[in-house]
Amino acid sequence: MKIAVIGTGYVGITTSVSLGELGHELIGVDIDPEKVKKLKQGILPIYEPGVESLIQRQLAAGSLTFTTSLKEALPDAEVIFIAVGTPSLPNGEPDLHYVEAVAREIGTHINDYKVIVNKSTVPVGTADWVRDLIERELERRHVKVEFDVVSNPEFLQEGKALEDARHPDRIVLGSSSQRAKQTMQTVYANVNAPIIHTSPRNAEMIKYASNAILATKISFMNDIAKLCAHLSVDVSEVAKGMGLDQRIGPHFLRAGVGYGGSCFPKDVEALYALGQSAGQEMSILRDTQRINREQPGWVIAQMERELGSLKGKKIALLGLAFKPNTDDLREAPSLKLLPLLHAAGATVRATDPIVTDPVKEQFPKVGIAADAYEAALDADAVLLCTEWASFLKIDWKRIRERMKGDRVFDARNALSIEKVEAAGLRYWGVGRKGSA
Ligand code: UDX
Repeated sequence: MKIAVIGTGYVGITTSVSLGELGHELIGVDIDPEKVKKLKQGILPIYEPGVESLIQRQLAAGSLTFTTSLKEALPDAEVIFIAVGTPSLPNGEPDLHYVEAVAREIGTHINDYKVIVNKSTVPVGTADWVRDLIERELERRHVKVEFDVVSNPEFLQEGKALEDARHPDRIVLGSSSQRAKQTMQTVYANVNAPIIHTSPRNAEMIKYASNAILATKISFMNDIAKLCAHLSVDVSEVAKGMGLDQRIGPHFLRAGVGYGGSCFPKDVEALYALGQSAGQEMSILRDTQRINREQPGWVIAQMERELGSLKGKKIALLGLAFKPNTDDLREAPSLKLLPLLHAAGATVRATDPIVTDPVKEQFPKVGIAADAYEAALDADAVLLCTEWASFLKIDWKRIRERMKGDRVFDARNALSIEKVEAAGLRYWGVGRKGSA
């Protein structure tokens, strides 16, 4: 099948190569000529494991091409995915002007039946709105062209997007006609996953509600963790015991410094705004957001309590990306911890396997170290902010030898208390108590 994907950002590019792996012919479209130039050379502007090598392989095979011209990409494509950005407006609602521009352009150029698929996360009713926009363009041109608009939300997690695309828990297809449903079934024919066939509006809500409940699970556990800290209970053990109940499930129960990234904060905010505009106050979402907002401050307050004060203290900050295996800093907890540490009078030396330069630009006072061992030199405390695999394999004895102090703050509940303490260090976790 010939497929066009509009937008070569994170969602667009991972969608393109994943569809390419299913045997389809892909054309990626982006208005940014620099981006397109790089992609044509097989250079991926973001970090996502496995994606760059797939781009290079598919380019060499001729099954993947890129262009800046939507007009050029449309005639051959049977299916057109819209995967452009939907950033938040100041009131929390998503800014749909990129989606609008693409829909209008599609209406300006199509001449035969197309299935237009919304991949971008968009409010309920957007598929209908996109249909209206295209129809208006067709009316303006005085032509009759059949088309369908489908909502097919993505559930890819950064850092493991290819794995998620190969083995999704489900594929959600909100189609408005039998013809579109069949076309989309052909698109995903080679994926072994349950398909939910539903209406576009239902599909749009499935995406928001899925991300909102995952974010809520995290905030719930962060609240439980704070209570555990008071009661000398280990929240990791609590999560293990809860997660074995199939009704709860083991995932997204890890307490820490809060969720970040390009989706959860934006999508919870957008769903809350959707409730507001419908006259419904979604107080659960408001609390999910509040707990997440407060979590970095709570971690810093605990560090202050444990260390007496942060004034003049040297902190080794491990991890800057919002989660491991990505270079994404959007809504990263590290960006919230850094100003709090500085305001409390601490000096910070940070390290991250992938992303350091943008942090240095934003926080010139932060020292950047090549690795955890360099960051730990003369440090009073180590603070783990992103649980990269390399940090989980740290030689804590080596760290201990280099440090001035003996405290390890695990803001991701990802380290082994035993290993840290066997090195003569004192462990602190979010609602987890070390033996010291
Ligand atoms: C998320 C959704 O999982 C994905 O389905 C959607 O399409 C896009 O948004 P992503 O933002 O890539 O994916 O990351 P995810 O792995 O979901 O983690 C989000 C945040 O929650 C991260 O900051 C992570 O560190 C945090 N998190 C996750 C926790 O704090 N605790 C957990 O138990 C799980």
